Amino acid sequence: MKFDTPATTNPIDQLKVVGKPTDRIEGPLKTTGTAPYAYEHQDFAATQAYGYVVGSAIAKGRISSMNLDAARAAPGVLAIVTAANAGKLDKGNFNTAKLLGGPDIQHYHQAIALIVAETFEQARAAASLVRVEYVRGKGAYDLAAALDTAVTPPTVFGTAPDTSIGDFAAAFAAAPVQFDERYTTPDHTHAMMEPHASIANWDGDKLTLWTSNQMIAWSVGDVAKTLGIAKENVRLVSPYIGGGFGGKLFVRTDAILAALGARATKRPVKVALSRPLMINNTTHRPATIQRIRLGATPDGKITAIGHESWSGDLPGGGPEVAVAQTRLLYAGANRMTAMRLAALDLPEGNAMRAPGEAPGLMALEIAMDEMAEKLGIDPVEFRILNDTQVDPEKPDRPFSQRRLNECLKTGAEKFGWSKRAKPGVMRNGRWLVGMGVAAAFRNNLNEKSAARARLDASGIVTIETDMTDIGTGSYTIIAQTAAEMMGVPLDRVVVKLGDSSFPVSAGSGGQWGANSSTAGVYAACAKLREAVAQKLGVASADAIFANSKVTAGRRSFALGDAAKDGGIVVEDIMEYGDLAEKFQQSTFGAHFAEVGVDAMTGEIRVRRMLAVCAAGRILNPKAARSQVIGAMTMGAGAALMEELAVDKRFGFFVNHDLAGYEVPVHADIPHQEVIFLDETDPTTSPMKAKGVGELGICGVAAAVANAVYNATGARVRSYPITLDKFIDRLPDIA
Ligand code: MOS
Repeated sequence: MKFDTPATTNPIDQLKVVGKPTDRIEGPLKTTGTAPYAYEHQDFAATQAYGYVVGSAIAKGRISSMNLDAARAAPGVLAIVTAANAGKLDKGNFNTAKLLGGPDIQHYHQAIALIVAETFEQARAAASLVRVEYVRGKGAYDLAAALDTAVTPPTVFGTAPDTSIGDFAAAFAAAPVQFDERYTTPDHTHAMMEPHASIANWDGDKLTLWTSNQMIAWSVGDVAKTLGIAKENVRLVSPYIGGGFGGKLFVRTDAILAALGARATKRPVKVALSRPLMINNTTHRPATIQRIRLGATPDGKITAIGHESWSGDLPGGGPEVAVAQTRLLYAGANRMTAMRLAALDLPEGNAMRAPGEAPGLMALEIAMDEMAEKLGIDPVEFRILNDTQVDPEKPDRPFSQRRLNECLKTGAEKFGWSKRAKPGVMRNGRWLVGMGVAAAFRNNLNEKSAARARLDASGIVTIETDMTDIGTGSYTIIAQTAAEMMGVPLDRVVVKLGDSSFPVSAGSGGQWGANSSTAGVYAACAKLREAVAQKLGVASADAIFANSKVTAGRRSFALGDAAKDGGIVVEDIMEYGDLAEKFQQSTFGAHFAEVGVDAMTGEIRVRRMLAVCAAGRILNPKAARSQVIGAMTMGAGAALMEELAVDKRFGFFVNHDLAGYEVPVHADIPHQEVIFLDETDPTTSPMKAKGVGELGICGVAAAVANAVYNATGARVRSYPITLDKFIDRLPDIA
């Protein structure tokens, strides 16, 4: 099915099942521990061997010698895979660094060996006996110190490094009110619950990997390319995923080394990355240094807006696109954005939840708060004043929907924004209390997505697609879509996901999963409706699918009747025309936060959070709310605690475990509320939906930062906002 004109009324609009706050259909499996995650796959329990990954102890340089004798002789050891015996390996399509390093080393904890043994403990013990000598090279590990070496990165996926509209320099220089500040965001790690894990099994030249992966089809291609085998010989299975956040968009060391270990031992081999290895072995969200300049008239109209961002990556890598939202979020006739990229020898930087916008808004939305104060305008009002209904870089291109102002107004009303006081004034006992606001913005992407739909004689509809559910609710919204389309209750739908033997879906990335994958299911079900009507001998235009029946005029059939002489199976793909070029499709929101700061100790407590989101049709308000709550929690972490500490001498992230890398826990987040504006966007797909999973984190950290400023009167421009950065500036409460 091709989607190239805005959607009109269709069966989804009935909203009998779609749009309802439905519990997760796979929830009971997960809460009873019976949903098998990759490492728990049981088919090979009797024969599987265990792999343990050895990571490089240096960040850059060469292995001069590797003594494996003691490890090889250790009890239970079956094989040791290194670059010396693994055969020729390609780098793959997506990774910047090799997944098996040596003798050249590109980053700390790059895998250099896999020890395969009968048990996990034997593999781990043998790994400790590997003796490696290195020649350490000189690397660059400090973004701030590497700014002079930063270059303009190439255009990647249509994202130009620089944009310029009007005459920014002149307009800024002439602006009656000027603002110019720098902000820093640190390196972040995904810190998902389930580590990267895989079980590999070879059957002749056919490889099957049970793994934890967001993008099945991309990763099939990448495994094939890395190992130099045909794509047709690779199967990936990833039905349950304990979080990804972008860290599992691509195949990683566990998958490739499990495959190599299984090939070497002719046994099924399972490999999980240990938590201390994950953080330097896999990707992370790169640190940024950002400069924001705003010029405005005294009555608060932005006349010049400039955003520059510096980030680093391994040679051959790309920038953090932290200027992305600034190209679209606010009006202003004169604009510039620029990204610069420094070569760093830290582990590879890559996507983490709302790559680009998440760190970009951490800077931009503090700057907006600062400029509002400078202008003497309420920060909610300042944002509303600078709304635009068209792409500010291409004014003939409207937003398909844009209700940012309504998000801000609704949020201000519900949150009690009018009670906000001047900075450092509001008190509650020893607590300094403050409120902050920030806009949320994230683009909507639609990706082609296919599905197979099957009807059996008992009226059960089965959907198969390689879409993944990374904890987001894909199973449930896909079931809701099929139930709505076929006129059956939810319990008559079976959803099978995450297997490369199923039709290729959009996968889980860039918050495109919900709208795109359900649109693919819509296409398959539309085709199934046609097939059913034909089988029953009724005109499909007249057929009404409801209550597990098909009714056409006076004739009525049980849905399953159409499959009486054998099941019906159809497959279709949703593909897109140019609506996303004609209209700028984005999602919007407003985040509000209230914090208390202990006037004595500087301890910050988040007291309340509210998100108001406008993101098209909300397919399942319960799942969507959970997505936004999780994202708000992650945003609070980004504001107050998350930071990979870089060892700038030796080039690695020091706090590479969950003891040292702090993320929020329940006690950090007392009250959160989410409001979705009632909206449908007919330009995105027949589902009229968009994504919320990344929108939810966008702007949160700035809202918290602005609340800390409002509480204390002390501005911090370097995340995370820890008390050492402002305690000497707390108001004197004596
Ligand atoms: Mo997302 S960072 O594209 O999983």
